[in-house]
Amino acid sequence: MRHQPASSLEHLSESELTAQLEAELLPKHVAVIMDGNGRWAELRGLPRIAGHREGINSVREMISQCLELGIKILTIYAFSQENWNRPTHEINALMGLLEHYLSTERASLIEQQVRFQAIGRLELLPPSARHWVHTTEQETAHLDKMILNVALSYGGRAEIVDAVRGLLDDIRTGTVEAEQIDQALFQQYLYTHPLPDPDLLIRTSGEARISNFLLWQLAYTELCFTPTLWPDFRRREFLLALLEFQKRERRFGRVLSALPS
Ligand code: IPE
Ligand code: IPE
Ligand code: MG
Repeated sequence: MRHQPASSLEHLSESELTAQLEAELLPKHVAVIMDGNGRWAELRGLPRIAGHREGINSVREMISQCLELGIKILTIYAFSQENWNRPTHEINALMGLLEHYLSTERASLIEQQVRFQAIGRLELLPPSARHWVHTTEQETAHLDKMILNVALSYGGRAEIVDAVRGLLDDIRTGTVEAEQIDQALFQQYLYTHPLPDPDLLIRTSGEARISNFLLWQLAYTELCFTPTLWPDFRRREFLLALLEFQKRERRFGRVLSALPS
């Protein structure tokens, strides 16, 4: 089927959009920079935390949509290393929301057979948030319908530095020889190992930057920037992003004629 240009898709219903998806062209791993919660709230005269709270509903919808479509890995940026520079009351509110989400949503994740994993400098999280992160990881470790990977206290540069440290430890103990270092070996030390790199990155709220997210892993990821604020990014918006991804020609540096069919 020939695809319609993205602009002509805007007026289609959710089921019409879904009908345009081609299973073999769906991404296996989607990464999301969930941005714009604060602006969503400010536009409504609400405190910023109201936007973060509403954003959880978008997360819930995206998880169920990934399950429906068979998208196996979803990595979401929930709290960056740089977000520690926000006012204490916002940090506390975000940590409270994280705890509330994990403590109340665990049962639903288990029921949906979703494995929860967290990446980032988790040791910086308050003890109670860390407790719920570890509990949810343990309770869902055996599930395999989908992986929900949540970046918390995460920085891409810190991840690379931590990988170098891990590699040096193994060189010191003799587990690894310096001569063995190549890209394949190095990426085994990243937080995301053994997950494949994301095929699609979505950033909401109109900002066109990476903000220190998955710097190594995004090397050949298709980037999709949308002006929609995260709390408004629901099922239709995700379908539009997937249809946009479907149209992209992933060349990986080669010329079109040499691509495997
Ligand atoms: C993204 O929304 C969520 C986090 C960074 C935790 P923001 O809080 O950055 O919302 P804006 O960008 O200020 O609108
Ligand atoms: C990126 O959003 C981090 C998360 C979505 C968790 P920010 O709102 O913190 O990014 P900047 O500061 O605008 O780059
Ligand atoms: Mg922001």
